[in-house]
Parts: sequence; structure tokens; C-alpha cells
Amino acid sequence: MALRLGDTAPDFTAQTTDGTISFHEWIGDSWAILFSHPKDFTPVCTTELGAFSRRKAEFDKRNAKLIGLSVDPVDSHKEWAKDIEETQGQALNFPVIGDPDRKVADLYDMIHPNASDTLTVRSVFIIGPDKKVKLTLTYPASTGRNVDEVIRVLDSLQLTASYQVSTPVDWKDGDDVIIAPAIPDDEAKTKFPKGFRTLKPYLRLTPQPNK
Ligand code: BEZ
Repeated sequence: MALRLGDTAPDFTAQTTDGTISFHEWIGDSWAILFSHPKDFTPVCTTELGAFSRRKAEFDKRNAKLIGLSVDPVDSHKEWAKDIEETQGQALNFPVIGDPDRKVADLYDMIHPNASDTLTVRSVFIIGPDKKVKLTLTYPASTGRNVDEVIRVLDSLQLTASYQVSTPVDWKDGDDVIIAPAIPDDEAKTKFPKGFRTLKPYLRLTPQPNK
């Protein structure tokens, strides 16, 4: 069955371009972004790995570790990494799992047979320090992911894990947030000392509390 939000992310041991890892141990107290690539030496994946590597400092700042996966072996990933650096102007700077027996791809349901029997789709799993799945995204092989969106949802997940708020449509770090409807107004006044605007009793906006 497909992984659902709140499930424990399956643990595994795997070979990566940075050596063998035990996934939960590797995550440690960080957040993790596990994302699959259909195949080595393919164009869209090459651009994605270059772009995520270029933005790695932004993930580091958020205590989030990146890890890619492709069903090709690690030796192939290492050859491909040379092309990534040459064409994207950026060296790969996080581990990529080699998964030729599809052990991890199967654990995370990354192969969707009606799309392809052999290639993974472009899955994204954001996993919290508690090892629970916080977010899943699935893109087809033909559509590259958006690094800004992954950072945006990570910001929302980290904020809403610490405060009783949710983030509205198109929210980005620094924008106003929504106070949880379960919090009565008198409690909201102490919890959100910057104040709030009430558009409807269930829709109250407050400045982002951790800014
Ligand atoms: C790509 O990364 O460009 C790609 C990979 C597999 C199928 C289609 C496109």
C-alpha cells in the first residue's frame, strides 16, 4: 500500500554515492528529503540534481538533508555525476542511492506500473526528525520538479510543527499565517502577541510568529 502522511518512513540500508547508509540513522535529528529519479543519464534528472545541489545551503539552513535515488547502481551514478557537474556547472553534493534491485523504490512505491514498469516516477518524500512522512509529491518522468516549491513546503511544515497555525494558498516564508480555528480569541491574543485580523471567525490572520 502507498505510504500516507503520518506513516513511519520505511527504514532501509542502501549503497549511495557517499557510502552505505542506514536511512533512519542517517536522518538523525534532521528533516530529510528523499526524491527519486527515473534513470541515470537522462536530461530532466540531470537538471534536477544540478539545481538541488546548487540550493543545498538553503536545505542545510533548515536542518534538512537531501538524498536522491535512481534504480541504477552507484557506479553508474558516479559516472553520471561527472556529466551533472559539466552541464549544470555544479557538482552533486548529496548522496544518491543506488537501487538496482528496486528494494527502496518498492518500499516507497516509487514505481507506478501504469506509467512505467521499470522506471520510478519523480517522488518526493519529506520526512521529519520523528521519521514520519510529512509530505508526498509525485510527478511524471516528463516534468521536472520545482526547488522553490520543495523549500516552500518545508518552511510550512517546519513552522506548523512548532506553532498552532496553518499556511494559506501560495504562502511563502514571511507571509501572514492562519490561526488554528480551534484556538479561542482570548487564547489567540496571548499566543499571537503581534495581533490578528478576523475576516471570519474561522479565518484569522496573524504575522508569522517566528519572524
Ligand atoms: C528525464 O530525466 O529526462 C527522463 C527520464 C526518464 C523518462 C523521461 C525523461
